[in-house]
Amino acid sequence: EKGTYPHYMLKEMDEQPTVIRKIIQAYEQGEDVTVDADILDALAEADRLYIIAAGTSYHAGLIGKQYFEKIAGIPVEVHISSEFGYNMPLLSKKPLFIFISQSGETADSRQVLVKIKELGYKSLTVTNVQGSTLSREADYTLLLHAGPEIAVASTKAYVAQIAVLAVAAYAVAKQTGVALDFDLKQELAIVANGIQTIIDSKDKMEQIAEDYLKIARNAFFIGRNMDFCVSLEGALKLKEISYIQAEGFAGGELKHGTIALIEEGTPVFALATQKDVALNIRGNVKEVVARGANACIIAMEGMEEEGDCLVLPPVHELLTPLVSVVPLQLISYYAALHRRCDVDKPRNLAKSVTVE
Ligand code: M6R
Repeated sequence: EKGTYPHYMLKEMDEQPTVIRKIIQAYEQGEDVTVDADILDALAEADRLYIIAAGTSYHAGLIGKQYFEKIAGIPVEVHISSEFGYNMPLLSKKPLFIFISQSGETADSRQVLVKIKELGYKSLTVTNVQGSTLSREADYTLLLHAGPEIAVASTKAYVAQIAVLAVAAYAVAKQTGVALDFDLKQELAIVANGIQTIIDSKDKMEQIAEDYLKIARNAFFIGRNMDFCVSLEGALKLKEISYIQAEGFAGGELKHGTIALIEEGTPVFALATQKDVALNIRGNVKEVVARGANACIIAMEGMEEEGDCLVLPPVHELLTPLVSVVPLQLISYYAALHRRCDVDKPRNLAKSVTVE
């Protein structure tokens, strides 16, 4: 029930701090967070992980790859399910397949699961729905604990997917003896508070939507490293609910073609949460501003500069996507509202896509 909320999407965005706390609770074991031993073994035995997903879940998978590689040292490939099924890459000797699906019913992902089972490979489903098709048919399941997600635009499931993937990567790293210099349980608690701070300042996002998107026909989202992955999700959110054409881009890639589209007043949202590339992304912003772009920089506290649009509460560098996506979700929501779009049920879209 959406209660006093005008839209499920708003309610679901508001629930995100609670979802992170529920995940901490669901996966905590003493002072730590971890996953079941059989899943740890399956992850530790694999020589490569193949993440298969669609849409927002695919975007969460891109962040999951960073976690398994950077935290646990396991190589990962991330594939769009509808592509993978009919154009399978060469596989490693001991692959483990990870299906990420909020609904657990996405047909494109299921057809891949059917194929890899025929080939005799093991699979893990990361889903919000216990007993869903992908969960029943895979060897293992990790639940998102996000509660039902009704709005077509996925918000809380995305942050839940990222948090659960972080828990799994962290747990397998511990299991395999990787030295870790942070406490994930504590860091996730900080994230929950950080998301709350952003939610509490929604008015700012409403103003940004008004200032940057009111008359926009198109928009760009740019970032580097993990900010690039989040910019893809920011663009998808804006497209699906406001119908503004949007593109997520790697900051450094713009000059290789797409910058040709920047005109006077084109909105460009730039994420600056990754220290190693802070100067580079600011350089990319200068390039678009020089061509007339209306740039909105969203920076992590400690990396902000005068004139930035929004400053995000600081969190562990690997967990920045969990907070940086939230303003992008809210900006899309308000942009859609301003355009009188049907926020919860955008045209041409279904909540779960059960046809290939
Ligand atoms: O249920 P799933 O996570 O498998 O769904 C995948 C996509 O259809 C879904 O994420 C879609 O892109 C959303 N509408 C995005 O907000």
